Amino acid sequence: MRAVGVREWKGRPEVLEVPRPEPGEGQVLVRVRAAGLNPLDWKIADGLLEGAIPYAFPLVMGVDFAGAVERSGPGARRFTRGDGVYGQVISDPVGAGTYAEFVVVDEAGSVALAPSSVPLTVAAGAPTAGMTALGIMDTAALREYESLLIIGAAGGVGTFLTQLAAAHGLRVIAVTHGHDERRMAAFGAAVTIDARGRALADAVREEYPEGVDALVDLIATDPAALAAGASLVRNGGVALSTLGAAAPGELSAGGVEGLNFQLTASVALLDQLGREIDSGRLAVPVETEVPLEQAPDALARNRVGGGRGKTVFLP
Ligand SMILES: NC(=O)c1ccc[n+]([C@@H]2O[C@H](COP(=O)([O-])OP(=O)(O)OC[C@H]3O[C@@H](n4cnc5c(N)ncnc54)[C@H](OP(=O)(O)O)[C@@H]3O)[C@@H](O)[C@H]2O)c1
Repeated sequence: MRAVGVREWKGRPEVLEVPRPEPGEGQVLVRVRAAGLNPLDWKIADGLLEGAIPYAFPLVMGVDFAGAVERSGPGARRFTRGDGVYGQVISDPVGAGTYAEFVVVDEAGSVALAPSSVPLTVAAGAPTAGMTALGIMDTAALREYESLLIIGAAGGVGTFLTQLAAAHGLRVIAVTHGHDERRMAAFGAAVTIDARGRALADAVREEYPEGVDALVDLIATDPAALAAGASLVRNGGVALSTLGAAAPGELSAGGVEGLNFQLTASVALLDQLGREIDSGRLAVPVETEVPLEQAPDALARNRVGGGRGKTVFLP
């Protein structure tokens, strides 16, 4: 089958011909309708999980998928042939990813019936970013606050989080690199700040002299960068990083709770995400659908930033 992956850590992603996987005990074979792009995909190909989980080359990339159950392996009874499913799969060994015509998933893993109100090509854009946004809402207890600053708001996690937070009555200040005001307003942002055009601190302080209640920073990779954003949070507020950039001790000295978020994918989160989508409260922001063969170029673009919403690959 066709797939996209790398032949070595940090290798250039390429179109590969690999054997179709076989579902083992408790597994199902899914015919992939679409695979969603996440920064996690190229981070794994760069060696993020090296040493943590066994791996195999060529390493087929991708964790998010939506598709139809093709066949169940021995003992697998949760799904029937033809069921539309979606989820996140990190195979063990790493390397049997979703950028492929077929993927094998553990039926006990993070796989669920796909939301029925959107095509599978759209559902494929939801799992990792959508579950992350739901997880952040709970981890940072965002429903208790009134204002939320999101840095890196234009991408996958940011657009899901903007919608969820706005739906719960938070005033979202979305920070992007570009003119995204209309687009982010459609997702529910009250204000969009183009970080290229204006000093972020000035723009936020003008409206919130005492600071915002909460910060979710999707870009900062080190404590200094995260602290710059956290300096715009009021005393007693919260600052969360998805990239391990929060230094809780230093932040609490400044009166801000620091949190580093790590997604634990689950069926419960996928089901919750599906309900949000089917209720119409949450739009899946798939903005780019490209043939699987174009995944290497799309991955290269994602690395340098500027991505909008979600990109999905069609095998
Ligand atoms: N810890 C966890 O469990 C977890 C879960 C999900 C995601 N994450 C991480 O959280 C981050 C955001 O995820 P995502 O899915 O939202 O990513 P994404 O869809 O690629 O969006 C990220 C956004 O950040 C901005 N950006 C990215 N790189 C940039 C750069 N070098 N310079 C300037 N702007 C840049 C881009 O918007 P602008 O061009 O407008 O700035 C882009 O729209 C990723 O690093 C991802 O790996 C962590």
